Amino acid sequence: MDYTIEITRAKNSRIGEVDFDNLQFGKFYSDHMFLAEYANGQWQNARIIPFGDLQLSPASSFMHYGQAIFEGMKAFKDENGNALLFRTDQNHKRWNISAKRMGMPEIPFDLFNAALNELVSLDKNWIPTQDGCSLYLRPFMFATDVHVGIRPTENFTFCIITSPAGRYYSKPVRVLAADKYVRAFPGGTGYAKASGNYGASMLPLKEAIEKGYDQVLWMDGFEFRYAEEIGSMNVFFIVDGVVKTPALVGTILDGVTRDSCIQLLRSYGLTVEETRVDLNELLKAYREGKLQDAFGTGTAASVAPISHIGYKGTVMELPAVESREISIRLKKDLEGIKTGNVVDKFNWVTKVQSPLSALV
Ligand SMILES: Cc1ncc(COP(=O)(O)O)c(C=O)c1O
Repeated sequence: MDYTIEITRAKNSRIGEVDFDNLQFGKFYSDHMFLAEYANGQWQNARIIPFGDLQLSPASSFMHYGQAIFEGMKAFKDENGNALLFRTDQNHKRWNISAKRMGMPEIPFDLFNAALNELVSLDKNWIPTQDGCSLYLRPFMFATDVHVGIRPTENFTFCIITSPAGRYYSKPVRVLAADKYVRAFPGGTGYAKASGNYGASMLPLKEAIEKGYDQVLWMDGFEFRYAEEIGSMNVFFIVDGVVKTPALVGTILDGVTRDSCIQLLRSYGLTVEETRVDLNELLKAYREGKLQDAFGTGTAASVAPISHIGYKGTVMELPAVESREISIRLKKDLEGIKTGNVVDKFNWVTKVQSPLSALV
């Protein structure tokens, strides 16, 4: 289906207010946003308008019951000035998986893709070119039935905002293995990018920060023994030359970066095991000097080295970041592919195109 997106341009750009040499993550938003509504069983009113506040009824159902999902992607610019997107088909696939789990309507790829391309094309000047910087893309969807009372909903808003962003982490990450709180259980929403998963992680995160850590390393909820993932990243360990990452068992997010890293690492000839990662075994490997690396992977964070892992009162201190040849190469290749500086032999990157719009 061909989705026409009506575009209303911002009268004045706010781009001059942004210091592109000192970008933080999630602080500024570009000139435009995308909106569409789902009503009477179909998506309608697809449009791009100046970024601004939304007007919503306080009885909107998502405000009460948390029926909301989101995605995260990044746009980069290559050296010829083309705007590039990375594996958006995968984010779209995950979007529909999340939507289904949360009882929300799917979005056809044509609409999702057209919205992203039009929006990024319009705000192309907002894509930073400084090292490690990008235009972060945040699609999200929420239920808008004006109804207090729990029942399946019928009305939804799909919105995309974009934000010029610097690196998510400026230094190696210290993670604390959860021993009391659980992020997800089998049958729950762990594999969906559901907003409520993140709401429920705020208190554990706050407590981990108070203890001197940056993030929670989520563990299985039965024994608090097997690693699952980190707040906004999947997690990898390298033990005695073998790369290990928790298997997709329904409680963790199927990260696009995770999959890309597995493919890249295997292309280096390394063994990557998608398995259960037992922290007791990891601790043993650490004590024997065999724990060589640990890192998180995610769209926002890229490949983020972990410096410390707190587990049952012991702190594992990982080797110096400069010595971690594999994850250094991985990060360089992944970021190089995204920015057009490394050959994209996997066909992961697409150039932004704007063929569909009707200008208003
Ligand atoms: C809980 C969680 N795990 C993993 C990831 C990494 O996923 P991706 O690589 O698709 O960004 C994210 C970020 O989206 C996340 O929020």
